[in-house]
Amino acid sequence: MSSIICPHCKAELIRYDKTYKCEQNHCYDLAKEGYLNLLPVNKKKSKSPGDNDLMIAARRHFLEQGYYNPLIEAIRNTVKEELNFKKKTFKVLDSGCGEGFYTQHALRNKHPKSQIFGTDISKYAVKIAAKKYKDNFFFVSSAYHLPVATQSMDLLLSVFSPNDPKEFHRVLKTDGYLIVASPAENHMKQLAELIYNDFRPHEHKIEEDLAAQFEVHLGKRISFDIYLKSAETLQALHKMTPYYYNTSKEAQDKIANCNDITVTCDFHLTVLKPIQK
Ligand SMILES: C[S@@+](CC[C@H](N)C(=O)[O-])C[C@H]1O[C@@H](n2cnc3c(N)ncnc32)[C@H](O)[C@@H]1O
Ligand SMILES: [Zn+2]
Repeated sequence: MSSIICPHCKAELIRYDKTYKCEQNHCYDLAKEGYLNLLPVNKKKSKSPGDNDLMIAARRHFLEQGYYNPLIEAIRNTVKEELNFKKKTFKVLDSGCGEGFYTQHALRNKHPKSQIFGTDISKYAVKIAAKKYKDNFFFVSSAYHLPVATQSMDLLLSVFSPNDPKEFHRVLKTDGYLIVASPAENHMKQLAELIYNDFRPHEHKIEEDLAAQFEVHLGKRISFDIYLKSAETLQALHKMTPYYYNTSKEAQDKIANCNDITVTCDFHLTVLKPIQK
């Protein structure tokens, strides 16, 4: 059974060559890169929702240099060693997957039968994810209206992306897990200090935000420093952050001239289990 459902009538979507169809004949064509656009026009709040091409390209440039590898490793190890999966093949969804780096590097395991899905509201992101990571299946959709069958996923991953507790609870199997990566107190402290006069530590509210639907299985803190030796890389990191659109010209110049900086990466990795009601 396909785990992807029609965003209009919620019936299962079946593949016929290059098209997916539901029983009511709603049709979705595969794009040439191999992804589906399942975001109904009436669910779009702007013409191109989500991260734009500039942010997505910056994210790919930064991640591919390996700066966040300790976080990737931590997610991989958590899935392998700390979740009580009885079987080796999973159905996994990376929600708000961006350009697909985590979908591929944190989730793909040695089992060709595992089905790995990635979704993001940004068409740019999904397009380049699908183009590069052919073993996974990507589709454009909102985390608040996932075109995913109820109780179909063993694992959900959400890395710095919007979380919808009810929707995540619906798509997860009863014995499934949700892994959320979110910024911890000192994340990007030095970058924020270049931009603002005072640094406000990040608040951690994930457990509270998800508490009605999920209980915490385990929590880890992952902190490490990265050394950026070129202004280009610092600029890529800057474009990945929400600070980008709130940066004065003066701060932009500081970033453009900074060829040597240590930046703290500080994350919470929270593993949650759906509460059975
Ligand atoms: C900070 S980025 C993280 C991307 C990726 N998980 C990573 O860490 O590389 C947040 C992502 O959430 C996506 N996004 C924003 N609103 C969304 C929504 N309502 N549904 C799904 N994705 C959304 C953005 O397009 C963006 O790719
Ligand atoms: Zn339909």
